[in-house]
Amino acid sequence: MIDKLEQLVEIARQMVAPGKGILAIDESTGTIKKRFDGVGVESTEENRLDYRSMMLSTPGLGEHISGAILFDETIRQKTADGTPLVKLMESQGILPGIKVDKGAKALAGFEGEKVTEGLDGLRERLAEYTELGAKFAKWRAVITIADDIPTRACLEANAHALARYAALCQEAGIVPIVEPEVLMDGDHDLDTSYDVTEATLKTLFHELYEQNVLLEGTVLKASMVISGSEASNRAGPDEVAEATLDCLLNAVPAATAGIVFLSGGQGDVEATAHLDAMNKMGDLPWPLSFSYGRALQAECLKTWAADPKGNREKAQQILAHRARMNGLAALGEWSEDEENA
Ligand code: 13P
Repeated sequence: MIDKLEQLVEIARQMVAPGKGILAIDESTGTIKKRFDGVGVESTEENRLDYRSMMLSTPGLGEHISGAILFDETIRQKTADGTPLVKLMESQGILPGIKVDKGAKALAGFEGEKVTEGLDGLRERLAEYTELGAKFAKWRAVITIADDIPTRACLEANAHALARYAALCQEAGIVPIVEPEVLMDGDHDLDTSYDVTEATLKTLFHELYEQNVLLEGTVLKASMVISGSEASNRAGPDEVAEATLDCLLNAVPAATAGIVFLSGGQGDVEATAHLDAMNKMGDLPWPLSFSYGRALQAECLKTWAADPKGNREKAQQILAHRARMNGLAALGEWSEDEENA
């Protein structure tokens, strides 16, 4: 029997295998309703299943997608022909992952800040998800930049919860994705994003150390160091790539299995270009890849929504293209020519 730690390291290695990244389709019921509202589709369980099983059955998706993060509803669903989605994923060579946090809630005593909940009963829920086939999990913390925030209290509360979640995952043989998202919302500049991201990551890795979390069996899901979405002089791709890499090199131990980025509101091609620029910058201590939600799905969702039956294949081709472009970016081999081919 392979030892549990070896198993964790092996799964983490597969999640960030060369040229592969993660598809985030773990939108909570509230978030998927927002996305469906945006394209005029009613958010019913049937429509959510149709949309997500369409994506997961994309031919060849496993060539560039190592794993997909599911929501609780999805990991229990079966396709129209009765195949559990988890089995469909296995047949594509895609590892099933599961979002286990219960969302970011107002942090008592700290206006405008949030702390992610979901630790109560997590050991039991992880045991059930293991039975259902989950190999990795995700927990997202939300850090907001505004006047006088984030506070140290907020960074520490979130890092502590992330570390306790990670330790419970590893106890269950599940690889934790730790995601401390520094939001792009606001008019802050690149330097502010850098400082907040650095403080967030240093606080997180200190807590992971305190809670005995094995970094070789942990994947970091990071936000890029980027100008606020309302900032006046937004930094360009090279500046974003340089600042992000510099920040990660200063804050993320080399033992960490890998780093995958969230897209956080970046445009599809913008998110690809940023990842590619970083991977072109030379030898890095960890694999640097993607775990995009919106930046992988946006065009695919729009196309599917326009005609869910008639456009099924077209939507899959669009998703396959974005997955391939990001797979190239994870190798530093993406180009505008590939993009437009
Ligand atoms: P976005 O890429 O749309 O930011 O979503 C990724 C994710 O999983 C956020 O938790």
